[in-house]
Amino acid sequence: MDIQTSNIKEWSSFMMKYKFALDEMNTKLKILNEEFQILHDHNPIEHIKSRLKKPKSISAKLERKNVKPTFENIEENVFDIAGIRVTCSFISDIYKIYDLIKNQDDIQIIKVKDYIANPKPNGYKSLHLIVTVPVFLTDRTENVCIEIQIRTIAMDFWASLEHKIYYKFQDEVPNKLTSELKSAAEMVHFLDCKMKDIKEEMDLYKSEESLHKKKQTLAF
Ligand code: GTP
Ligand code: MG
Repeated sequence: MDIQTSNIKEWSSFMMKYKFALDEMNTKLKILNEEFQILHDHNPIEHIKSRLKKPKSISAKLERKNVKPTFENIEENVFDIAGIRVTCSFISDIYKIYDLIKNQDDIQIIKVKDYIANPKPNGYKSLHLIVTVPVFLTDRTENVCIEIQIRTIAMDFWASLEHKIYYKFQDEVPNKLTSELKSAAEMVHFLDCKMKDIKEEMDLYKSEESLHKKKQTLAF
């Protein structure tokens, strides 16, 4: 069906499965975070943001991809209608979350783009996943695509400023800003490594402390 001649009801009924997929994924992530906190005394997720792509942006993407604006083409070509951004404190948390998502039987990983191992030329870093989750509707089950971006707080800070700059200047970002962003991306990496070292040292203190407490209890 052509989306330009569709009415609000048809749009809503097309979009609802993406909303349900986001609801499901948000619940899954919250459960993982809470259980991890209980088991390991650490929450890998700082915060989660989710959004549904606006019809205008969906149409623009189809135009960029040079495909006719039909609902079928949206499903086959646009994989980020449902988007979730997960922000973590540490790089290791990003891969922990990825492993936990991978281990869920009902989630299928369609694509992984590791911009942490291979940052974009501008310095952009994040782990991107395209996954499907089953959405159980009244008369059928649909595997719905979601784009999940997982990044550290520092990476998120960088990406949001870069996005603002890119948006403001479109394709003509002044060279000075581009190179300053690149050097800020290196600082982001330095900060992420430094925070990891501090966390490891803190964990070491914590485990020595608990060992000491155990010894004291045994001495009684
Ligand atoms: P899209 O058509 O935009 O979805 O790009 P793609 O299909 O090549 O996917 P990719 O995984 O590279 O990027 C998807 C999303 O990641 C974007 O919509 C942004 O939210 C984010 N992203 C990717 N590259 C950059 C970047 O250089 N800077 C910022 N700020 N965000 C980025
Ligand atoms: Mg996108």
